[in-house]
Amino acid sequence: MAFMAALLYHAGPGMSQQHNYDFLVIGSGIAGLSFALKAARAGNVAIITKKKSAESNTNYAQGGIAAVTSAEDSFESHIQDTLNAGAGLCKEDVVRAIVSEGPAIVRDLAEIGVRFSERENARGEYDLGKEGGHTKRRVLHAGDITGREIERALLAAAAAEKNIAIFENLLAIDLITTRKLRQPGPNRCLGAYVLDEFSGEVSVFAARVTLLATGGSGKVYLYTSNPDIASGDGVAMAYRAGASVANMEFIQFHPTCLYHPKAKSFLISEAVRGEGAVLLGKDGQPFMKKHHPMADLAPRDIVARAIDAEMKRTGADSAFLDITHKDAGFVQKRFPNIHAKCLEFGFDMTKTPLPIVPAAHYQCGGVVTNVDGETDITGLLAAGEVACTGLHGANRLASNSLLEAVVVAERAAKKLTSSPPDLPPASYHLPSWQSGNTGDPDELVVVTHNWDEIRRLMWDYVGIVRTDKRLLRARARIQNLQREINQFYWNYKVTPDLIELRNLALVAELIIESALLRRESRGLHCTLDYPHALPAAYDTVLRKA
Ligand code: FAD
Ligand code: SIN
Repeated sequence: MAFMAALLYHAGPGMSQQHNYDFLVIGSGIAGLSFALKAARAGNVAIITKKKSAESNTNYAQGGIAAVTSAEDSFESHIQDTLNAGAGLCKEDVVRAIVSEGPAIVRDLAEIGVRFSERENARGEYDLGKEGGHTKRRVLHAGDITGREIERALLAAAAAEKNIAIFENLLAIDLITTRKLRQPGPNRCLGAYVLDEFSGEVSVFAARVTLLATGGSGKVYLYTSNPDIASGDGVAMAYRAGASVANMEFIQFHPTCLYHPKAKSFLISEAVRGEGAVLLGKDGQPFMKKHHPMADLAPRDIVARAIDAEMKRTGADSAFLDITHKDAGFVQKRFPNIHAKCLEFGFDMTKTPLPIVPAAHYQCGGVVTNVDGETDITGLLAAGEVACTGLHGANRLASNSLLEAVVVAERAAKKLTSSPPDLPPASYHLPSWQSGNTGDPDELVVVTHNWDEIRRLMWDYVGIVRTDKRLLRARARIQNLQREINQFYWNYKVTPDLIELRNLALVAELIIESALLRRESRGLHCTLDYPHALPAAYDTVLRKA
């Protein structure tokens, strides 16, 4: 553990350690840290995170954070762009609330030390980028490593806060709820079971309030821009605990990830198109004008589908992203990280078009919350990519997720500090973790095999363009895999890989079930069986019986 908290104590002989906190935050990306910094004013906070604290989707964000900060922009314009991208499924009140808090959020981030890029020769004025679906320049960025800069500043602020303890390499296995403990009354979250990745011990973290800030689930797909932490743990834990999960079929595929066997789908930011890059087919011809009036800067679902169609039509392995017509000095200065990374793989983007393919990037659905992060379980909040507030609808507008994460996390913390929830009774000693004790020699190969199989089947059968036949095939496969994984899970000692595999399988199942429930094509869910959107928009909500 990176940090020993003052409040650590032993719950009693024969029981696992119980750590008591006012607030338990699961995840140290932008949502978890933003919440913790505000909640620390009202009580002590434990942040647990399953790897090093910076390892998160946040850390890899490139384009930036969308917010209205220029005189040429307006809230109404940002709201309309969000609603258009969301294809009729956004909750307009949520969109209005989140967009209108954008400028204050930018000020908060700047205050804690985030250094956003400024315009040359105009100090004090932010340099604003443009991305798909935006009709105005409104994306604040820190070069092309915005997420790394935000994560650095938030972690530094959290480290300086005496009421916050950060525990690295602790993986939350499951939420502890009154329902799970078979207690009467409404379901209430009491904390979580947590695995120490080094010692293999499972302890109890008890808290008045638990925030899920575990990010997304990109690893469900074979090709993804996401780092390894994105295995959908939060959605899986919340679903198992009885929370509602919505709109999981809306998986956003980022149109432009570098096509190279060793690049692990490295993202080429949409901001590159915002500065004039054009998508080309294998014949070297631009093709986006055929698909949308905004051409290369159309909303992301449309661009990803157009690339997919172009590749299928021509039998090409990739499309190409061309910014060679722009001044090489400008490109290197605006996109230093992307330029350098591409050079490592042998591509000089100032001289040759980059081979690109779409890859799974963002989970638009998630644990159902309101704009204050409240779920339908008392004492359980969710914020960031794990949550579904209704902001994104059927397709997220670029750079709206960092914005949403901070707004919702801060609102959640503010609401708690103004009306703190009741403490669970002081005598609350939660039962220790029970599972099998032995390791199994066969385990590694089964875990690896099933992990690969899930990711491939999701890519092949539940990808950018879907059919009922393929979805039903995927459902049958995933149900078999679930049976095998559960058998393993309950009979043998839990390991991080096994826990993530179990979560990945459940999230895959939730995506498939939601996709089967959506009998229309809308936003990111495109099915050949129902090619049109239905007149009335609806959410696909799943909840464990
Ligand atoms: P994350 O930042 O992913 O943090 C999740 C945290 O939870 C991590 O610390 C993880 O280790 C921890 N965790 C997960 N499971 C467990 C568990 N079981 N136990 C303990 N800890 C756990 N969005 C934008 O708005 N603008 C952009 O420019 C942008 N660019 C992007 C570029 C890339 C390459 C990627 C992958 C995403 C990008 N996004 C962007 C999306 C955005 O980065 C994410 O949606 C956002 O950062 C999510 O923040 P979060 O706090 O919800 O989760
Ligand atoms: C990008 O930089 O293209 C990613 C932006 C986002 O996912 O919002």
